[in-house]
Amino acid sequence: MADMMWAGRFSKQVDETVNAFNSSISFDGRMYRHDIQGSIAHATMLGDCGIITKQDSLEIIGGLEEILKDIDEGRLELDPNAEDIHMFVEAELTKRLGDVGKRLHTSRSRNDQVAVDLRLYLRDEINEIKNLVKELISAIIKMAKEHTETIMPGYTHLQRAQPITFAHHLMAYVWMLLRDLERLSDTRERMNVCPLGSGALAGTTYRTNRKQTSDLLGFKEPMPNSLDGVSDRDYCIELCCDLSLLMTHLSRFSEEIIMWCSWEFKFVELDDAFATGSSIMPQKKNPDVTELIRGKTGRINGDLITLLTMMKGIPLAYNKDMQEDKEAIFDAVDNVKLCVRTFTPMLSTMRVLKENMRNAAARGFINATDCADYLVKKGMPFRDAYKITGTLVALCIEKNLTLETLPVEEYRKMTELFAEDVYDAISLETCVRERKSEGGPSPDEVTRQIALAEERLEIYNRV
Ligand code: ARG
Repeated sequence: MADMMWAGRFSKQVDETVNAFNSSISFDGRMYRHDIQGSIAHATMLGDCGIITKQDSLEIIGGLEEILKDIDEGRLELDPNAEDIHMFVEAELTKRLGDVGKRLHTSRSRNDQVAVDLRLYLRDEINEIKNLVKELISAIIKMAKEHTETIMPGYTHLQRAQPITFAHHLMAYVWMLLRDLERLSDTRERMNVCPLGSGALAGTTYRTNRKQTSDLLGFKEPMPNSLDGVSDRDYCIELCCDLSLLMTHLSRFSEEIIMWCSWEFKFVELDDAFATGSSIMPQKKNPDVTELIRGKTGRINGDLITLLTMMKGIPLAYNKDMQEDKEAIFDAVDNVKLCVRTFTPMLSTMRVLKENMRNAAARGFINATDCADYLVKKGMPFRDAYKITGTLVALCIEKNLTLETLPVEEYRKMTELFAEDVYDAISLETCVRERKSEGGPSPDEVTRQIALAEERLEIYNRV
């Protein structure tokens, strides 16, 4: 009982099961640096405002720095029986400094403390995730540069549709990931406000300086409403949304790689270091990494639902339900980092089987639109051209031919507008080269797009 900081009000010891149930140090212990950082700012402000003496303030700061060093260097272990990281650090400080340590929590509550810790912690995590995403984007761009002429079929409904290049396909993911970066930056910006000084919920009667703590911790400004300061977990939810979307992108990319690795496609081959074998089937080379990423996407979505559901019914201000925020958002952050860290080298070492892509593009009549466009350019209305081409495709299927191998006489039976030059017009190279509308797959256009993406990336590198 004596151990509990709030013991004064109670006449009985807390049941052991409740103690264990309540404790969050097993998962919030990871925020010890940020907790100490927040406490140092708070103690500095208390000293400067004359709420505690300068001497006490300095002693507290010194003590906190010592504790930080001792944990960092393994001399001090977190007590698994402590209620949470905030209680642990404060108790340790008091153990070391005696009464002076007990002055740290003046004009503060764990409610604003935990809110500030989590913002500090997630701010750092966002930086790390952004760096990982930037590395991934660079890796994709590098690969795209090598494949601006690599023809592959583009699909809709997973049916071969129109010819594109592998670079064009890769660059689609670059734009998704650039938006992910942008979202993470936005979230970080909105998260970067300081709840410290909100107290338990209703501020404080001490004459504090919230701007000072906010500035010391690198926040943009103090949060304007103390109730909001301790009640808000938007920033966790928003970050988790960003991470769900990022994972959705990685999951789609993973799904494609899984298909491309199959014998049915064989567009790519994973490096041996990034594939696994089967315990029974000797021929197998499995794309486990991509499957796990696809699987973990569900898990991150689960974290998002956890957070949203946890928040939706709780009245202002702090409620213990909110302690559940940490495991969910930490799980999301940890797993996203794992996924991106593994995905990037897997992708960079993946072998691209250009021939197979080209062969797949040569079957499936993906130049049929171009055949119709050929007639349109000779003056026929598109709908008529579309119909004639459809009939020709049916004829090819019946005769086991392609549009490239169908004799010109057959073409001319449909309309005299067809001539020998149809073969050039429907060659895959022409089809791709001529798709130079903005954003299209022509090598020139994709090269322009790559330069644009590099420019964008450069901007995000600066912010
Ligand atoms: N461990 C708690 C959490 O993570 C800290 C805040 C506790 N506040 C309280 N009033 N019990 O939410």
